[in-house]
Amino acid sequence: MPRLSLARLPTPVEPLTRLSAHLGVEVWIKRDDLTGFGLSGNKVRKLDFHLAAAREQGATGVLTTGGLQSNHCRATVLAARRLGLEAGVLLRGDLPPTADANLLLDQLAGAWIRTCTVEAYRDAREELLTAWAEELRSRGVVPYVIPEGGSDGLGALGFVAAARELAGQSELPFERVVVAVGSGGTLAGLALGGLHPQISGVAVCDDAPTFERRVREIAAQAGTLGSDPLPASGWEVVEGYQGPAYAVATPEIWQTITLVARLEGILLDPVYTGKAMHALVSETRAGRWGGPILFWHTGGAFGLFGRGREVVGL
Ligand SMILES: Cc1ncc(COP(=O)(O)O)c(C=O)c1O
Repeated sequence: MPRLSLARLPTPVEPLTRLSAHLGVEVWIKRDDLTGFGLSGNKVRKLDFHLAAAREQGATGVLTTGGLQSNHCRATVLAARRLGLEAGVLLRGDLPPTADANLLLDQLAGAWIRTCTVEAYRDAREELLTAWAEELRSRGVVPYVIPEGGSDGLGALGFVAAARELAGQSELPFERVVVAVGSGGTLAGLALGGLHPQISGVAVCDDAPTFERRVREIAAQAGTLGSDPLPASGWEVVEGYQGPAYAVATPEIWQTITLVARLEGILLDPVYTGKAMHALVSETRAGRWGGPILFWHTGGAFGLFGRGREVVGL
């Protein structure tokens, strides 16, 4: 399968010695927050496959969709620009008077930005993207559409490769890999990649059955592209750490984010990695998870910006 190399790989695997001492369990980290700066995070691994396909098809513009502060949309916009392509994003919600964080970066890079209501996003985002692509075609643009989160069979191949990258990097007998789950492509790819430790995907919204279904769908698509079948065991979706809603973090999740920043100088975000790390911290403290554990850092640091009020007093 054609693949670009936008992501800076391999990302490092490092011990978190002070967090390990604090928890009494050995914890390591896979630094996919270091796949690039503007191109930071897990999404770039998927984009290496999607944008290779876009190039092969002669695309001159890329369309995708996500929340107003989507990391995936920001990474897609900047990756498209690195390749000299136009980029458009369909965002869920109303634009604020002034943009910050990921939305600011979308604007800086001159993305075409459209918004839709939460209901339209839930029920018709794919149709809206298809109609937008049609419109662009009539104006002479050759569009390539990437689904929400880059999470389809093709995107998941980025994480099949990531599982192999880890296998070649570390012979540590990890008991468990912990990773955030937002649209399922990362977990699907890691599960398909045949990682030996248990892979615990922490839901950041929705429930476990929804994501399990999503992982199976994505794996079936990846199967049509030649990947191995999804193993029946060895992966799971963990719920209970979603907080009140998508992108809303409890004070306890913020405490975990500050704990890791202060002990390790590692930045987590309140939408994805903060929730996944909170699961790791809570489950090890409760004695349910033992080590060594590998925390797969999926990026998302721009999600911290604009959230200062929630950190006051921690
Ligand atoms: C920073 C970050 N971590 C984790 C995820 C979850 O990955 P996936 O959508 O593949 O489940 C996302 C995107 O949804 C993300 O932006």
